[in-house]
Amino acid sequence: MFYLMPPSGTPISIKDIAKIIALRVGLEKLDEPFTRKLKRLTGSKHVWLLNSGRTALLVMLREVSRLARPEKNEVVIPSWTCYSVAASIVRAGLKIRLVDIDPMTMDYDYNKLRKIDFNHVLAVIASNLFGIVSDWSKLRAITKEESVFLIDDAAQALGTIVNGRAAGTLGDAGFYSLDRGKNLSTCAGGVLVTDNDDLGRYIEEAIESLPTPGIISEVVTVLKFFLHSMFLRPRCYWFPNMLPFLGLGETIYDDHFSVAKLGRLQQCAGGLLIDRLNMLNSQRSACALKIAEGVRPLGKFEIPGSQAATGTIYLRLPVLAADQAMRDRAVRFLRKGGFTAVTMYPAIIREIRGIEPQLASLKGDYPGGRQIVARLFTLPTHAYVRQNDIDIIIAILNEV
Ligand SMILES: Cc1ncc(COP(=O)(O)O)c(C=O)c1O
Repeated sequence: MFYLMPPSGTPISIKDIAKIIALRVGLEKLDEPFTRKLKRLTGSKHVWLLNSGRTALLVMLREVSRLARPEKNEVVIPSWTCYSVAASIVRAGLKIRLVDIDPMTMDYDYNKLRKIDFNHVLAVIASNLFGIVSDWSKLRAITKEESVFLIDDAAQALGTIVNGRAAGTLGDAGFYSLDRGKNLSTCAGGVLVTDNDDLGRYIEEAIESLPTPGIISEVVTVLKFFLHSMFLRPRCYWFPNMLPFLGLGETIYDDHFSVAKLGRLQQCAGGLLIDRLNMLNSQRSACALKIAEGVRPLGKFEIPGSQAATGTIYLRLPVLAADQAMRDRAVRFLRKGGFTAVTMYPAIIREIRGIEPQLASLKGDYPGGRQIVARLFTLPTHAYVRQNDIDIIIAILNEV
């Protein structure tokens, strides 16, 4: 009972928090501001810091839509993805066009994407779920003749480099999330990137008028950092996990989220913590590889994505059971053994309550998305997972 491995997260120490406060009050200085470090990491020309990934997507969609013809009002997303993506589209006053997802790649079913009517499509969002980079050669080939913006949602893939280019920068614009449990966390936050100067000018103007969180919000963030520092450890995580009002791991659709710039304290945190991103990401991919190597020979589960051997930075390792009963058993057994295996978004986007009026089309069944909802569970790949944990996870899964 007193050992429970959290599903994701990045350790932060009390010393780190003290340093972040010292940076914020000017007792210490960063060697380089956070935005400049992000520019270097991503190779992006323009970088903005916001209070969440969904805000970054919202701002981007509003400005992209101003540059496009008025009849372009649909945004394509996978049938199963983070609910916040749908919320940003709705908040921007645009319609959601769903295309089914392939459970084995966690990317679009490109045969289905090829068949949609692009006449009203403003943008297509690549999702890079779990850190598995979307297939840009297919995405570009299909949209080559269409006048659509390509948006690279790298909320779960900060730090991934593909053929010399950073995930998040492979489209016309992209964004990252700095929320808890992401590759780099400032408690909450988002980063918007683009190389497009015209779009950049509009975005700059839009962001200038956004509020910056005040001192109370910064104090609350410090408290959250402390709680995070204490309770992310497997020996302590059982405690917050017992408190239902914290809603840990819950997915809620909410299109009334707050829209602001990233707070100054969080900018200091980002500027400090980004220096260890590569190390943390290497640990994640090494951990995912070890788990995958142990799970595959069991012959009971499938692991989506390009083979773990190619070094995918799995933010969590997605695993597909044969069916829902087996998945639920795996989650139960793992929990008994002290591991939180989460099932992520609980329904396909089509089934979010009240979403229907926001969909460009009510047709379509989305069997790929439904399979993921029924069969998926994820395993932790973060820095608290040790070899002993991996051995136990594999032994448990062998019993399922
Ligand atoms: C794929 C994806 N897109 C977008 C978002 C939204 O980011 P945020 O939670 O920072 O608003 C998330 C966050 O969980 C995500 O996983």
